[in-house]
Amino acid sequence: MYENEIKAAQEKFGELIRKQLARVEEMKSQGDFVDYKSLDKIVIGVCGGDGIGPAITAQAQRVLEYLLADDVKSGKVEFRVIDGLTIERRAAEMAAIPEEVLKELKECDVILKGPTTTPRKGDEWPNVESANVAMRKALDLFANVRPVRIPELGIDWTFYRENTEGGYAAGKEGVSVTDDLGIDFTVATAEGCERIIRAAFEFAKANKKKRVTAVTKANIIKTTDGKFLDTFYAIAKDYPEIQADDWYIDIMTAKLLDDKRRRDFEVVVLPNLYGDIITDEAAELQGGVGTAGSANLGKKYAMFEAIHGSAPRMVKEGRDIYADPCSVIRAGAMLLNHIGYIEESDKLYKALDICTITEKKLVMTGRDTGATGEQFADYIMETISNM
Ligand code: IPM
Ligand code: MG
Repeated sequence: MYENEIKAAQEKFGELIRKQLARVEEMKSQGDFVDYKSLDKIVIGVCGGDGIGPAITAQAQRVLEYLLADDVKSGKVEFRVIDGLTIERRAAEMAAIPEEVLKELKECDVILKGPTTTPRKGDEWPNVESANVAMRKALDLFANVRPVRIPELGIDWTFYRENTEGGYAAGKEGVSVTDDLGIDFTVATAEGCERIIRAAFEFAKANKKKRVTAVTKANIIKTTDGKFLDTFYAIAKDYPEIQADDWYIDIMTAKLLDDKRRRDFEVVVLPNLYGDIITDEAAELQGGVGTAGSANLGKKYAMFEAIHGSAPRMVKEGRDIYADPCSVIRAGAMLLNHIGYIEESDKLYKALDICTITEKKLVMTGRDTGATGEQFADYIMETISNM
């Protein structure tokens, strides 16, 4: 029975394996991380995306241009605005990232990205793949770094979410074998586990963190999570000064709410899907998913983004000028740090704290009862100029 269906499923599985093996070879052939100091010029792509994206990223760009004014003038840094990563264009071309846009992105060294719309069943858009996920894959941005800080609770967490494998590697390639049977695949490669885990330990070492925690469900998902966990403890041996421990995702989700233990976590490294879920929980504790910035790092490219949505309704109602640019400006601070402008980045973090917590001279309400994004960016720059 079902011989034809089984054969068809086997063929699809074979195809998937071939693709993943090719990806492994590709990973192995990559060089080391770019050294931005060695570049004659750093090109910063500014990709607005959809909805309120262009409005808020434009404000973040103003702030970065202000901080880097001298190097922009001397030609050491160039800002390049990349239009076209909009849902309208992606739907028209039926592409997660239009080819022309991808080409432009690849000509940049780092990218500051606004939110992009991910179509879901039942809305007005065709089913194009998430631009985020596609960009992570196309530029091989394997480390999704999401810091969460709640100083008043003593919380300072940095999540290193694997960004190209797990359930996301073959999310579109599941097989409906018969009407009664659906199978999805999850993927872990040696190279893929090693590079994210090493990145997490290197970060811990550089930032004097004392502990790195792995999160898996290796008691159940034995092959792939098992590989992740084994790799974790093998690499931990290279960092004897750092404490390494691991938790299962279910109990970890609970422990982030446990006031007696949660402040002890420092760096957390985890496979893609667990990272997706738990970073939303962590960001919510910090004040909402809209408050978190996220870095997507690869060896050659890096992309920095806010992790909130594109709020199309605000644009429809003409309110995009009132959208809060704070999280994409925060992503800009991460970008500055990544390309080696540490002092400028620290100033920007400080200004964000002053403007959103300690002084808070402006209130953003998302409508004309509050400040505009432009006024907020001006406030940030004014605050920096007084430092
Ligand atoms: C995130 C988002 C994305 C993901 C979506 C938009 C595809 O939830 O960046 O965490 O699942 O990775
Ligand atoms: Mg998510």
